[in-house]
Amino acid sequence: MARECFESNSATTSGRPESQVADILFEGHELAFSKYGPRWKNLRRAAHRLLSNDASRAHLPIQRAESSSMMYDILEDPRNIYKHIQRYAVSVALSVAFGDRCPTSDDPMIEELFQMNRQLDKLVGPGGHPPVEVFGFLAYIPERWASWKESCRSLRARQQKYFLNLVDRCLDRMSSNKLNGSFMEYLLEHGAEYEIDREKAYYLGMSFITGGSDTTADYLQFFVLCMLENPAVLAKAQQEIDDVVGHENIPELEDLENLPYLRAVISELHRYRPVAPIGIPHAATVDTMVGGYLIPKGSMIIMNTWAIGRRKELFDDPEKFLPERFLTSEFGLKPGADTTGFRDTPFAFGGGRRVCPASYLASNSIALNAMNLLWAFGFNLPKDPNTGLSIPLDTNDTTDVVSHARKY
Ligand code: HEM
Repeated sequence: MARECFESNSATTSGRPESQVADILFEGHELAFSKYGPRWKNLRRAAHRLLSNDASRAHLPIQRAESSSMMYDILEDPRNIYKHIQRYAVSVALSVAFGDRCPTSDDPMIEELFQMNRQLDKLVGPGGHPPVEVFGFLAYIPERWASWKESCRSLRARQQKYFLNLVDRCLDRMSSNKLNGSFMEYLLEHGAEYEIDREKAYYLGMSFITGGSDTTADYLQFFVLCMLENPAVLAKAQQEIDDVVGHENIPELEDLENLPYLRAVISELHRYRPVAPIGIPHAATVDTMVGGYLIPKGSMIIMNTWAIGRRKELFDDPEKFLPERFLTSEFGLKPGADTTGFRDTPFAFGGGRRVCPASYLASNSIALNAMNLLWAFGFNLPKDPNTGLSIPLDTNDTTDVVSHARKY
């Protein structure tokens, strides 16, 4: 049914629901919230130039260097692994999009970005603002009684300051002939080919940084938690790395091909802890029939990734973290389950025409870091200095639009 809805009917189910918050914040220029139509197509075409499978391979040296830097940070300061993972995620997105980076985990740019992301999650998430899209008159309530408007205005100002500053740094480099081949340099020069004005180019950079920071960091933070929670899985994955990669050389992306158990761990984590548990809601752009039901034009359509991964008809023991299921069947499904609609890209990346454009870049980040972490480190819970006992970590998530690992 999900496939029929998002893929067979992708021409009419790739819209985004009406959102006054998104209209105020982005005026239709940000990719993830842009309405389905010519502007979205141009933004998506530009994103493809940066994030296609081939283009993503060109970002591997950046990912390798940032991953090595993250491992050094963890070695020096293991207690702050959560922050070091955040730095990795932000720095890779910044490098590929703006040709900039965050060298240290205490860089104020990181904290500011994650604070803005949280504010955005809250504003667009359930209950974040009154139902102005349903009861249009609510939009006319003056700002002094409608705090969501003030929140939108302050977030917009923060985002503009943050991302225009990154564009300015890029322009400075361009004017002093210190080009570093970043995507933003290209977009500022060639934006006309995608009908993207110079003044609006920062919105697409924002899409990449906002879309790529929390998601990548959360996946890797959950990965660490999951390894701590499942010592048998950890031992098996580390044994496999030792056997295949050995101790002399640091893992390379190509090694993944020979690491079937780790590939299964990665797929199982996408199922067990999808970082976007309800994706980003789609909307029907015209009346659409799916499975005999009418989805009227304008209806919000949610791909409930979390629930799909927990369907008992599809997965044995869906509440358990069992990578082995992906060794016995391609999509981790139980024997006899209907495989229609399952494909190579995990459903955690969404579906149809709006599927995450960065799934290759993100998957490379996940694979490289998972291999490196398992290869380089032992995973142990922190110890209470007074009692010497292990301090358990809170493995629950805090779910906004993106599901976050609690700080550890
Ligand atoms: C673990 C990592 C990631 C996951 C699980 C993930 C997941 C998703 C999901 C579920 C969607 C919504 C798809 C839909 O509407 O059906 C999405 C959209 C998007 N993602 Fe990702 N993502 C990840 C990493 C990234 C990265 C690294 C970037 C950028 C560098 C990125 C940029 C975007 C953008 C721009 C969109 C909006 C696409 C559109 O509306 O056309 N994502 N992602």
